[in-house]
Amino acid sequence: MVRTRALTCAIALVSVLLMVGVAAAQLTPEQKLGKLLYFDSNLSKNFNQSCASCHLPTAGFADPDQNLPVSQGSDLTLFGGRNAPSAAYAAFSPFFHWDAATGLYVGGQFWDGRVNSLAEQASGPPTNPVEMALPDKWSVVDRLRVSSKTDPVHPGPNYQGWFKQVYNLDLTAIPPYDPALPVPPGVLEVYDRMAKAIGEFEKSKNFTSFSSKYDYVKAGLATFTPLEARGESVFQGKGKCNACHVDTPTLAPDGGLIPPMFTDFTYDNIGVPANQNMPGGVGPVDNGLGGRADIAAKDPSGAQLGKFKVMSLRNIAKTAPYSHNGIFLTLQQIIHFYGTRDLLSVCGAAGNNDPGFATTCWPAAEQPTNMNVTELGSLNFNADQEAALVAFLRTLTDGYGRKNNLPPLPLPPFPPMP
Ligand code: HEC
Ligand code: HEC
Repeated sequence: MVRTRALTCAIALVSVLLMVGVAAAQLTPEQKLGKLLYFDSNLSKNFNQSCASCHLPTAGFADPDQNLPVSQGSDLTLFGGRNAPSAAYAAFSPFFHWDAATGLYVGGQFWDGRVNSLAEQASGPPTNPVEMALPDKWSVVDRLRVSSKTDPVHPGPNYQGWFKQVYNLDLTAIPPYDPALPVPPGVLEVYDRMAKAIGEFEKSKNFTSFSSKYDYVKAGLATFTPLEARGESVFQGKGKCNACHVDTPTLAPDGGLIPPMFTDFTYDNIGVPANQNMPGGVGPVDNGLGGRADIAAKDPSGAQLGKFKVMSLRNIAKTAPYSHNGIFLTLQQIIHFYGTRDLLSVCGAAGNNDPGFATTCWPAAEQPTNMNVTELGSLNFNADQEAALVAFLRTLTDGYGRKNNLPPLPLPPFPPMP
């Protein structure tokens, strides 16, 4: 979407100044509990999958498996229908809402914004059959109840102590899991607190460290290589990438400034083709935002069909493959798509398995309705511009400071996050 930039370079400067002097926050007890839960594979059917399995810190908080477009579940024969996005910086997505001023939906979690808060999001995976696959909430809470460091087979944290300390909840009061019985009192509260703790952990500096080369360059402590600098120019100029992947600071509700998120959390249809290599076969058309029953009911004209959330580009170099269905294998490929989607011929029936895919042809958009043809699709980058964009996107990977023995950048003011 083209929109005027609300904030100017002057504000960017102020933001850098504001970033100085704010001490890096330590994890609260609730966030520490959330951390234990986030990495605990005992919270899945086959004791083999945690949140981190699909959102691994060293893989940019996305799925480390770059060979599959979607993620394998705890049940190894089952797969989800979408590519796992990074869980980093997701905390900055505002509540899902309709913005009357721009006429756009904004915010929410997931590619289609269907849940509002991180806690609400985190309550899904443990009982999702294609993810952690436990049968119901009580069975998850039961895993918490019995978790013990001394368990010879599946050792885990002492959640009895943690839930008592953080929420004053007594896990020992909950009876052992029995699917034949009605859910006993207390179970849902424990489950909701579990999800809340995970959500709070996702708001911590572990997920939002603002420690990329880009951040150090903007703070005046590093410099772009000439190629990276050319990439930034293309990103802002010919590529118009920043019309959606916004690279200016934004105003937090408390008046503070948040460094660029590389998304405006809106939705768009960039014309991603169907991915023929989905494990389990190509499903029905994925209409993203417009595929949600509530949105379809509000908008029978279909104005949201095929639109997916503009994802943040922070850590993007680590989260291949790309787009909601993972059809693009490399950054160069998706950039080439932005440049030549409407210039190359249409691939044959094999779609992305056509030998010409991404070089001489692109398959047609899975949902051509609402496809953005004004801002992208025929940008026609030359090889240097493509390489420069890739180099620039690589500067968005966190951890640059540590690698280069630079002092940590003070964290920016955090907005009240959903
Ligand atoms: C089997 C892999 C898998 C597991 C396990 C998993 N996720 Fe996800 N996650 C995904 C996929 C796939 C999506 C995108 C789904 C969609 O948009 O419809 C996603 C989306 C998200 C998002 C939304 C990010 C955004 O910017 O919209 C967050 C946050 C998240 N997951 C956190 C978690 C947490 C917390 C857990 C553990 C409780 C978890 N995930 C477990 C695969 C997984
Ligand atoms: C009109 C808005 C818009 C513009 C302009 C735009 N993008 Fe995007 N971008 C999106 C949307 C929406 C998605 C998610 C699309 C999907 O998965 O269906 C996306 C996805 C991406 C992804 C993959 C994200 C992921 O997590 O897999 C990358 C990389 C990316 N864009 C880079 C760029 C670059 C580089 C440019 C400039 C050449 C650009 N974008 C211009 C809206 C835009």
